[in-house]
Amino acid sequence: MGMYDNKFSKDVGSFFRSPVREIFKRVDLNAIYSFAGGYPSAETFPLEDIRRTMSEVIDRYGGKAFQYGATQGVTELREAVAARYAVPVERVQITSSSQQGIDVCTRILADPGDVVLTSNPSYLGALQSFRSYRTDVRGVSHQNGPGALREAYEKAISQAEADGKRIKFLYMIPDFQNPSGESLTLQERKVLVELARIHDFLIIEDSPYRELRYDGQHIPTMYSLDPDRVVHLGSFSKIFAPGFRLGWIIAHPDILDKIYVCKQSLDLCPPVFDQYVAAEFLGSGRLDANLKKTIELYKSKRDLMLGLLEKHMPDGVCWTSPEGGLFLFLTLPDGFDSVRFYDRALDAGVAYVAGVFFHTDGSGVNTMRMNFSFMSPERITEGIRLLSSLVREALDSKVSQ
Ligand SMILES: Cc1ncc(COP(=O)(O)O)c(C=O)c1O
Repeated sequence: MGMYDNKFSKDVGSFFRSPVREIFKRVDLNAIYSFAGGYPSAETFPLEDIRRTMSEVIDRYGGKAFQYGATQGVTELREAVAARYAVPVERVQITSSSQQGIDVCTRILADPGDVVLTSNPSYLGALQSFRSYRTDVRGVSHQNGPGALREAYEKAISQAEADGKRIKFLYMIPDFQNPSGESLTLQERKVLVELARIHDFLIIEDSPYRELRYDGQHIPTMYSLDPDRVVHLGSFSKIFAPGFRLGWIIAHPDILDKIYVCKQSLDLCPPVFDQYVAAEFLGSGRLDANLKKTIELYKSKRDLMLGLLEKHMPDGVCWTSPEGGLFLFLTLPDGFDSVRFYDRALDAGVAYVAGVFFHTDGSGVNTMRMNFSFMSPERITEGIRLLSSLVREALDSKVSQ
C-alpha cells in the first residue's frame, strides 16, 4: 500500500486514465502514422492572423487583457457567441474549453449513483468526467432511425426507473459524433427531446464538430428544439485552435447561475487574453474565412480516406461515412480484437484508438476510431495502406481472433 492510499477521496477511486492519452505518452505522434488523436491539422491554425490579432488586442485593451475577468467570460466574446447562435447573451457562459463544460455540468447536476444516459459508444472524455463523479453511466446502443432510437432509449429509461434510479441527464453528441462520425437526424433529435420532457430529465448537447460540415444541410440543434431543457456545449478547439482552451455553454439562466458559482471555485474566470483574441476573430469574420479553408481541407482528407479504405481494406471490414467532423469508425469482422491488434499496429508504425474504450459496456471490441484531420494526405495514404495490409494479414492468419 502506498503512503497516500488512505489520503485520497472516494472520487479519485473512480478516475480512469484516458487510453488515448496513454498512447500519446508511448509514441511521438509525428513519428508514426497516427489516426489516433482528435487533433486538428496544425496547418489550419492561422498563425499570422493570430499574431496580428494578439497585437491588436494589446493595443486596444492594454493591461485589461491580462487582468482577471468576469466569471461568465468577457462581454465581447459572450456577445459574439450569442450573435452566432441568435440567443440572448444572458444564456451564454464562456468556459475554459468544452471539456470543462462537460465536467461543470456533471458537477452541478449529478450526485453519485444518479443515472447519466448516453449513446454507446460515446466521447471518452465525457465518460471520464461522469465516472469521476461516481454517476451510474448507461450507454444505449441503437439502430438508426427514430423508431429504433425511441425503443432503445425507452427501454433504458424503464430499466433505470425499475432500478429506482433517477436519470439526471442524457449526454449526446448529435453532430458528427466522437467516435462514430455519425449524426442524429432531426426526427431522432425530436424523439430524444420528447423523451426528456416525458421523463423530466435534461439533455447535454455537446457539439464541438457542428460547424465542420462537408456535405448535406445543417440540422437544427437539440437546444433549438427545447431551449429550457437542453444545455448546449460548444468549443473553439476544432474551428479555431485547441491551444486557446475556450468553449461555451448556452443554457437557461437558472442553470448558468449554478455554473457561475461552480466555476468560481474552478478557475475564477476563463483566460482573458485568449477570449479577447477569439472575440476579435469571431467579430471580424476572420474565424469564418479560416473555417471555410479548414472545411475544404478536411473534406478532401475525408474523401481521400474513404477512397483508400475502399481500395485497400479487405472484405468484411466496414466503416461509417461521416458528413463532417474529424473521425470515422471501422467495424472489423466478429472476433477481431482491436486492443490485442494494437501492439502489432504500433510496432509497424501506425496508431488508431480501439473502439472498446468508447463503449460503456465492454462491447465494440472489433471496432477502431480513425481520425482523418491530423496527418498530411501523403501520410494518410501511406498509413491506410499499411494498416490495411496489417488487418489483411491478421484476418488471414486469424492471430487476432
Ligand atoms: C465530443 C467532444 N466533446 C468535447 C471535447 C473537448 O473539447 P475541448 O478542446 O473544447 O475541451 C472533445 C474533444 O475531442 C470532443 O470530441
